[in-house]
Amino acid sequence: MKPEEQNKVLQAWQTSAPYWDKYRALITQMYAPVTTGLIEEAQIGVGHNALDIGGGSGEPSLTISGIVGPTGSVIYTDPAAGMVESAQAEAGRRGLTNIQFRQCSANDLPFPDKTLDLAVGRLSAMFFVDPVRGIREALRVVRNDGAASFAVWGPEEANPFFSTLNDVFDRFVESPTQDPDAPDAFRFAAPGKLAGILKNAGAEIIIERQLDFQIEAAMSFEQFWRLRTEMSESLRAKMAGLTPAQLPIIKQTAADAAQRYFMSGKMSFPAEALIVSGRKSAV
Ligand SMILES: C[S@@+](CC[C@H](N)C(=O)[O-])C[C@H]1O[C@@H](n2cnc3c(N)ncnc32)[C@H](O)[C@@H]1O
Repeated sequence: MKPEEQNKVLQAWQTSAPYWDKYRALITQMYAPVTTGLIEEAQIGVGHNALDIGGGSGEPSLTISGIVGPTGSVIYTDPAAGMVESAQAEAGRRGLTNIQFRQCSANDLPFPDKTLDLAVGRLSAMFFVDPVRGIREALRVVRNDGAASFAVWGPEEANPFFSTLNDVFDRFVESPTQDPDAPDAFRFAAPGKLAGILKNAGAEIIIERQLDFQIEAAMSFEQFWRLRTEMSESLRAKMAGLTPAQLPIIKQTAADAAQRYFMSGKMSFPAEALIVSGRKSAV
C-alpha cells in the first residue's frame, strides 16, 4: 500500500474513533460472541502476557485483562491515537492496572522478540497495511510455541448487519469497484485466505474455525441506522453525498429491508466470523 493510502486508512480510523467510543457498550454486547470465541481459541488463562493488535476502543484487551488477572498482563496496541485514548480512558474508569497502551501499527511492533505468551486481534487484521508483515511481527514477539489468533468477518452476504444497509446504499449511490486485497471489513472473508497469510508469515499448526452467531442488542431500526451511518467510514462518505430528497427514500428502503431483524425493540442479525490461529515454531 502506498504511504498516502496508508494515511487515508489511518485517518478514517481516527475519524471513526469518537463513534466507536460513543457506541462502546453496544459494540461490546454485539461482538461479545467474537471476543469469547477468540479468547477460547487463543486459550488465554490466568497469568498470561497477551498482546492485542488493533484494539480499537478496547476489545478484546479489556476482557482479557480480567481473565489474565493481576499475575498476567495485556499490551493493547492500535495505530489511531483516538482509539488509544478511548481504550485507555475506559481502562482508567474501570480501574484496570494490568494493561499497557501503545500507539503503533501491526507493521512495526515496538516490543522485543519472544516477550509475550500470545497475540490476538479482534476484527483488525483485515486493515493491516501489510498482513504478512503484521503477522510475522506478532509471531516475532510471542514466545516459541506461542499462538497468534485473529477474528475476521466472514462473507458480507452472511453478515446482514452490514449488507442490509450497504446493498441499499449501493442501489442509490455509485460505489467504486474494490480491490479484493484493499483494507476492508471483508478482505479475509474467503475461507483459507487469512490462513494462507499466516502460513506465509511462518506460522505452524494453522487452524481456521467458522463462528456462527447472532449480533443482538436492545435497539430499534432508528438506533441501528444512526449507529451504522456514524460508525462506518464508507456509509459516512455516502451519506455526505446524498441529496436531501434521496435521504428519506434510502432510509425507508433500508427500514423495509431490515424489518425482519427487528422485533419487540430487539435487534437480532445472524452473523459469521472466522477465527484463524497459528503457532510460532516450538524451537
Ligand atoms: C474494526 S476496528 C476493531 C477494533 C477492536 N479490536 C474491536 O474489535 O472493537 C479495526 C481496528 O484496526 C486498527 N488498525 C488499522 N490499521 C491497523 C494496522 N496497520 N495495524 C494495527 N491495527 C490497525 C484500527 O485503528 C481500528 O481500531
